[in-house]
Amino acid sequence: MHRIFDRTAITTIAAMTAGLLTCTTLSTAALAEGRDAALIKRGALLVSVGDCVTCHTPFKMGANGPEKDMARGLSGHPEGLKLTPPPRLDAEWNWGGSATMTAFVGPWGISYSANLTPDRETGIGAWKEKDFIQAMRTGKHLGVARPLLPPMPWQGLSGLPEKDLQAIYAYLMSLPAVKNRVPEPVPPDVLAAKVAGR
Ligand code: HEC
Repeated sequence: MHRIFDRTAITTIAAMTAGLLTCTTLSTAALAEGRDAALIKRGALLVSVGDCVTCHTPFKMGANGPEKDMARGLSGHPEGLKLTPPPRLDAEWNWGGSATMTAFVGPWGISYSANLTPDRETGIGAWKEKDFIQAMRTGKHLGVARPLLPPMPWQGLSGLPEKDLQAIYAYLMSLPAVKNRVPEPVPPDVLAAKVAGR
């Protein structure tokens, strides 16, 4: 029988195919990397416009006065910071914030800005992209649990196109993970007792 492919030819073809596959895989990976970089860049812009740093990064005292402590960028209210009970609020002054600008008091009780870094235990590292998008769309913790408290401006973010919320998520996931367990919010009745007892 006439053999069209001898062993060498088969080996050569196999090697060529493998080479071609490697090229395709490499270029797909490079493409994906390019897409990710573009998404992260867009996310950084949106996070800057959305002013997430203002509430999600503690202020520290710098040479020229208070400045955002970017070593703890977007890691939320510092877990080690023990605050005194907030002042009594009346109808005219009805909300307030801590000097770090990461704890907020008002008719909703006390809320603490969340850790948005990809730490899996204390940040949003265990969240899937869809959890983040749903949280921003519905104003619910993880998209399904308790309502998010003021002053988190989720209402303004909820109308963003899918791609932009994906970009914000991609950017947050690209940040260094910071371990910082933010306290649970304090409900209004517990807050009232704290204020009464101060
Ligand atoms: C005016 C202050 C403020 C700004 C600005 C702000 N946040 Fe928040 N954010 C908060 C507070 C406070 C909480 C905690 C709310 C709570 O515990 O219910 C929070 C919570 C979150 C959470 C946690 C949700 C959850 O389910 O636990 C995410 C995610 C988040 N913010 C993302 C962002 C992003 C992204 C931006 C910028 C586009 C942003 N925030 C801007 C104050 C703010």
